[in-house]
Amino acid sequence: MTSLYASSDFAPLSPPPRLLMGPGPINCYPRVLTAMSTQLVGQYDPVMTGYMNDVMALYRQVFNTNNQQTLLIDGTSRAGIEAVLVSAIEPGDKVLVPVFGRFGHLLAEIAQRADAEVHTIEVPWGEVFKPEQIEEAIKRVQPKMLAVVQGDTSTTMLQPLADIGAICKAHDVLFYSDATASIGGNAFETDAWHLDAVSVGLQKCLGGPSGSAPVTMSDKFVELVRKRHHVEAGIRDAHHVDALGPRIRSNYFDLPMIMDYWGEERLNHHTEAASMLFCARECARVHLEEGQDAVIARHKVAGDAMLAGVQAMGLTPFGDLANKMNNVVGVVIPDGVHGEAVRETLLLRFNIEIGTSFGPLKGKIWRIGTMGYNAREDAVLHTLQSLETTLRMQGFAMPFGAGVDAALAVYNEASSNA
Ligand SMILES: Cc1ncc(COP(=O)(O)O)c(C=O)c1O
Repeated sequence: MTSLYASSDFAPLSPPPRLLMGPGPINCYPRVLTAMSTQLVGQYDPVMTGYMNDVMALYRQVFNTNNQQTLLIDGTSRAGIEAVLVSAIEPGDKVLVPVFGRFGHLLAEIAQRADAEVHTIEVPWGEVFKPEQIEEAIKRVQPKMLAVVQGDTSTTMLQPLADIGAICKAHDVLFYSDATASIGGNAFETDAWHLDAVSVGLQKCLGGPSGSAPVTMSDKFVELVRKRHHVEAGIRDAHHVDALGPRIRSNYFDLPMIMDYWGEERLNHHTEAASMLFCARECARVHLEEGQDAVIARHKVAGDAMLAGVQAMGLTPFGDLANKMNNVVGVVIPDGVHGEAVRETLLLRFNIEIGTSFGPLKGKIWRIGTMGYNAREDAVLHTLQSLETTLRMQGFAMPFGAGVDAALAVYNEASSNA
């Protein structure tokens, strides 16, 4: 067969050196990139299973939990969401989803596909829920599970979760959170906040690429999903006895089978995505070596500096700033400024990516992230300076250097208090 293309038609990979200052993905920690290019070992090599055990131990620390069942789902963050929801939900189960942005809608949609009876409550984008609002809905709906996003990147808001766990416990409701966008850059306490299941991704404050979804599950959650434990025919031994509950509808996201693979039996399920596991392991090592409090403080000062910078430039931040995530700010696109033209100039002339938005905020705000490796003073200053020049090119007048000066002042203040 003659090929339409010669191999020389395809250039070697050589992406431009972009500074990724959007809502994720971000540039990876260099150590994570090195980890990703590590040579493979076999799936059951004791070195590999040792790395899997390391990952479990490391992510218990990242999640602040003693949960034995802390492991990776292969796939992007929504793979973690899907694994939790499809494994826990039986058709007709009631699931309550407080929606305060795009990713609340995603939880509702995935729960619907698992045939849950989904109930949503909503606040306008840019706000979060008070615990009383969630408790009132729990009393009314009496769900099996509450599924709530911690940080919704679409609006930049961070839903406080500390008081929700006690409410769920009092009403015997499973408490699940998607903390993909917030973990690492904002406090997250799985055990202290009484969470039953949490799923995240690497591509935000953990400083990795997307493609691996760490999850953690409480004993109560594990007991519940194990009631649906069915082992695949081709790998089943005489000692495998099916549980009585209905079989989980997804093979790939069947948490009991995945736990068998990560557990002592090492019962084959998928082939672990070793390169992503190496990344996930290194993300956690980088994070824990710097120290959780120090990483959160670094995200806080970077986020405060970016916020102060855009405000000093005469731009308006979006949403309730008291509940903003540390790691991303929404910026209202000023009248008369072409939002996409600004993003294009930043990307193509300054090599800086900032984010657009979705749904009701589409075309109305930019989202500027300061996450993981890019929660750094130089990244904040370059972004603000480049944004200023770009806005000036669009005819938006502002005091020269005000954004950078305001950001520098935040960093100076933080270092004098350190
Ligand atoms: C809060 C939240 N949940 C889920 C996702 C989906 O992640 P992925 O694209 O990795 O599947 C994102 C991505 O931005 C997110 O911010």
